[in-house]
Amino acid sequence: MKVLILNDPEAAIERAGDIVSEAVRARPRTVLGLATGGTMLPLYDDLVARHDAGSLSFAGATTFNLDEYVGLAPDHPCSYHRYMREAFFDRVDLDRARTHLPRGDVADPQGEAEDYERRITEAGGIDLQILGIGRNGHIGFNEPTASLGSRTRIKTLTDDTRRANQRYFSSFEETPRHAITIGVATILDARATLLLATGEAKAEAVARMVEGPLSAACPASALQLHPNATIVLDAGAASSLTLRSYYETVHPGGQDSAFD
Ligand code: F6R
Repeated sequence: MKVLILNDPEAAIERAGDIVSEAVRARPRTVLGLATGGTMLPLYDDLVARHDAGSLSFAGATTFNLDEYVGLAPDHPCSYHRYMREAFFDRVDLDRARTHLPRGDVADPQGEAEDYERRITEAGGIDLQILGIGRNGHIGFNEPTASLGSRTRIKTLTDDTRRANQRYFSSFEETPRHAITIGVATILDARATLLLATGEAKAEAVARMVEGPLSAACPASALQLHPNATIVLDAGAASSLTLRSYYETVHPGGQDSAFD
C-alpha cells in the first residue's frame, strides 16, 4: 500500500484530486469507480474546479458508483443518484449515458445487482476505484464480515452505519436498512484504487485497514492484497498509525517516491 500523509484535509483533497486528474489525463476513456459520502464532497468540488479551469475533461470517461440504498428512487433527495447529480455529474462534461449507479427502487434488487456487476465487466472493468472508509472499516457498503470474495449484491447495513448516515434522513427509522453495493472482490479487480480518509474519527479504521490483520472484520483491510492501492490521509486520519513516520519518510509531504 502506498500511504500518503498530508498535513490537513485540504492538502489531502488536493493530492487525491491530483491522482484522479493524472489518471483521467493519461487515459481519457478511463472507467472511474466513484464513491459518495461527506469525505467525497470536497474531492468532487476539487475536480469540478479543475474542469472549470479547463485543465480536466471527463468527456470520454465512464463511471460506476459503488452503491445505492434499496428502496430509494433516483429522484429521492437522499439517494446516491441525486447526490452524484448535484455533487458531480451536473457540474462537469461527463456523458450522462456513461454514468452508472445501481437502481435501488427496482422490483428485483438482487437481479439489478447481478446486472450491475455484468455492466462493469462489459465496460472492461474499473481503471481507478475511488473509495472512502466507514468508521467500522467498511468500503462501499461492505460491512464487517462481508466476504472478501463478494460481488455486487444486497447488504444489510449495520446500525453504526445507519447512525452515521442518519444525518441525511429525518430519523433513524427512516434511514434505509439495505443497500446494493459492489463487492470486495469487485473492488479488488480495479486496476488501481484510491482511498481518501480525513479526520480523527477515521483514525482507528485506517490503522486497522493498513496495519491490522487481513480480515473480513475490517473489509478495507482487503486492500492489503491490491498491488496498486493508494491511501491518502490527513494528519487526523493518520494519527493511529504505528508506522506513521516510516510512511512519511518514504513519501515526504505525501509525494510519490521511486521506491515504496
Ligand atoms: C459510499 C461509500 C461509503 C463511504 C463511507 C464514508 O458510497 O462507499 O463507504 O465512503 O461510509 O462516508 P463519509 O465520507 O460520509 O464518512
